Order: sequence, then C-alpha cells, then structure tokens
Amino acid sequence: MTHAHITTWLIALILFFVAISLHKAGKQRGFKIVQMILRLFYLLIIVTGVMLLFSMAAISTMHWIKAILGIVVIGLFEMILGSTTKGKSTGAVWVIFVIAFVAVVYLGLSLPLGFYI
Ligand code: HEM
Repeated sequence: MTHAHITTWLIALILFFVAISLHKAGKQRGFKIVQMILRLFYLLIIVTGVMLLFSMAAISTMHWIKAILGIVVIGLFEMILGSTTKGKSTGAVWVIFVIAFVAVVYLGLSLPLGFYI
C-alpha cells in the first residue's frame, strides 16, 4: 500500500506541473482534461493514505497530523490551479505549498510504519 500511496502522489505532482505548463502555453482544453485526471488522483491519494492509516494497530497523533497535512497539500494544489486560471497571483500560496509539501514528505518518511506492502 505504501508503494501505491507514493505512486499516486508522485503522479499527482507530475500532473500538477503538466497542468500549469499547459495553462502557460494557452492550451485551456488540455489544462481542463489534466485537471480532471488530477482530481481523480487526489481521491486515490486519500484512499491509499486512509488505508495506510487504518492498517495501523494504533494511530498516533503524528500520523493524524501527517494525514491532515496531506489533505492540506491537496487543497493547496487546487488553490494554485484555481488562482492560476483566474489570473490571480499565486506567490504566497506557492511558498505555503512548498513548505507543506516538504513537511508531509518528511513526516511520511520519518513516521515508523515503514514500507507496508
Ligand atoms: C500530496 C499529499 C501527500 C503526500 C506528498 C504524502 C507523502 C507520503 C510519504 C512520502 C509517505 C512515506 C511512505 C513510506 O513509508 O516510505 C507517506 C506515508 C503515509 N501517508 Fe501520505 N502523503 C500525502 C497525503 C496523505 C493523505 C491525504 C493521507 C491520509 C488521509 C496520508 C496518510 C499517510 C499514512 C498513514 C502514511 C504512513 C506513515 C508511516 O509510514 O508510518 N497521506 N505519505
């Protein structure tokens, strides 16, 4: 399950950058399609994350924080794409996104479940 979880958020990250570059290139139709696929991947991240969470005998506070931060990161993906389409500035959200992303990966890797197939 750990592999599925990592695969889903890695693909989501790639799709996120693909969506942004399509928008910059003025390809709005492509942007919309990639954004829809990305939303499917949000669901997969949450499903695999929740499965990991409930595979544990006891869920620690840090695991809850990791899970909530994971959902926050997904929210930030959406906020950046939403502001990009509306032509609003995204600078501040990007800073929060990078910090939250690094924190969630760090927490994920440092928490003691390890690789759970
Ligand atoms: C973009 C969002 C997310 C990123 C980048 C992310 C990243 C990671 C990473 C790097 C790991 C470590 C995998 C390993 O053990 O090697 C992990 C584990 C985990 N993630 Fe996520 N995750 C995200 C979203 C979520 C969500 C939404 C949930 C729950 C609803 C969640 C729950 C978990 C749990 C329970 C683990 C196992 C922690 C452990 O090893 O003890 N994650 N995640």
